[in-house]
Amino acid sequence: MRDSRAKSAAATAPAPLPAKGRFQAFDLLATLVAVVHGDGTVLFANAALEDAAGASRRTIEGASFLNYFSEPQVLRTALDGARINEYAALRYDAHLLRQGAEPMPVHVVLAQTDHPDEFVIELLPLEAQARQDREERLIDQAQANKELIRNLAHEIKNPLGGIRGAAQLLEMEIDPALKEYTRVVIHEADRLQTLVDRLLAPHRRPHVVGDVNIHEVCERVRSLILAEFPKGLRVVRDYDISIPEFRGDREQLIQAVLNIAHNAAQALGDRIAAGDAQLTFRTRIGRQVTFGKQRYRLALELHVIDNGPGVPDSIKDRIFFPLVSGREGGSGLGLTLAQTFVQQHHGLIECDSVPGRTDFKILIPLP
Ligand SMILES: Nc1ncnc2c1ncn2[C@@H]1O[C@H](COP(=O)(O)OP(=O)(O)O)[C@@H](O)[C@H]1O
Ligand SMILES: [Mg+2]
Repeated sequence: MRDSRAKSAAATAPAPLPAKGRFQAFDLLATLVAVVHGDGTVLFANAALEDAAGASRRTIEGASFLNYFSEPQVLRTALDGARINEYAALRYDAHLLRQGAEPMPVHVVLAQTDHPDEFVIELLPLEAQARQDREERLIDQAQANKELIRNLAHEIKNPLGGIRGAAQLLEMEIDPALKEYTRVVIHEADRLQTLVDRLLAPHRRPHVVGDVNIHEVCERVRSLILAEFPKGLRVVRDYDISIPEFRGDREQLIQAVLNIAHNAAQALGDRIAAGDAQLTFRTRIGRQVTFGKQRYRLALELHVIDNGPGVPDSIKDRIFFPLVSGREGGSGLGLTLAQTFVQQHHGLIECDSVPGRTDFKILIPLP
């Protein structure tokens, strides 16, 4: 009985497959996989790798896999080491070069197979991980900002009243010729007072919750921006009108989007003068979106995109910090407030900017 079963199993066992066939199962994986010869020549590239590299299997296979990395030497050394059996598997980080896209940061795992001089290279994209880390940093940063602002504003506010009052008393006592100086003190104290009030405003104002239609918000901002920049600026609406209403504070969201759009319009100065400035409001529904350590089934994505010069590199990673400004006379509060307001809706603002295209993306979970 036993014997005959063993025999029949042996009889139906598949014949050894040719090289291509042996690797076909790799096409089912989401991981990028290549099988290479010890000299780096690609014997097989799976479908996920084709996609990521933006090149067809026919192009990749037969070519040297070294050419697909920003750091070919590292792979060379790794393969040489694996060839002389220095290790069975090796891991390191590298950048996969892609057709028509930025190099993709990947974690490389190089492993021997049971065929001599044949190696399996797995590439795990680091992008997703890096993005998540960045978002977590943004959220922590925003929380720290909020506390910093509130404390700082209170520290300034308290003595400010005293300074102003003292200057007023002094003004009544002194030679009228010297009043010019007390005026400066009073005027500057008033200016600081206004700034402090603006810093404290978002924390003081109650959160008014109602049904928000995001397109109403966009339209409102659009008309405010066009009123201020009536010439040379085109505002394009690219709306997905199927986006449902959600519970939120309409005024806060208008303020947040306005701050972002206003920055864009300001950055567009030269293009407005040239007459080809463009600002785009794009709304989309994101599905299974992860941000702020949480995964949401549905999320609103509102992009505010401009064709201006881009966020200056020197302040790029700090634009959401309070008092960081790239403009003469800027308060550096616009984006801090916008981020605070959006976070009150459990959302997040992200920025992606290169010269010619700056995209501020507001993400808000939908019910
Ligand atoms: N769309 C944009 N294009 C270029 N730079 C931008 C854009 N949005 C924001 N920035 C930069 O970020 C800085 C911070 O913006 P914000 O927090 O609103 O402060 P402020 O506008 O008072 O300077 C701006 O000064 C500007 O340098
Ligand atoms: Mg601003």
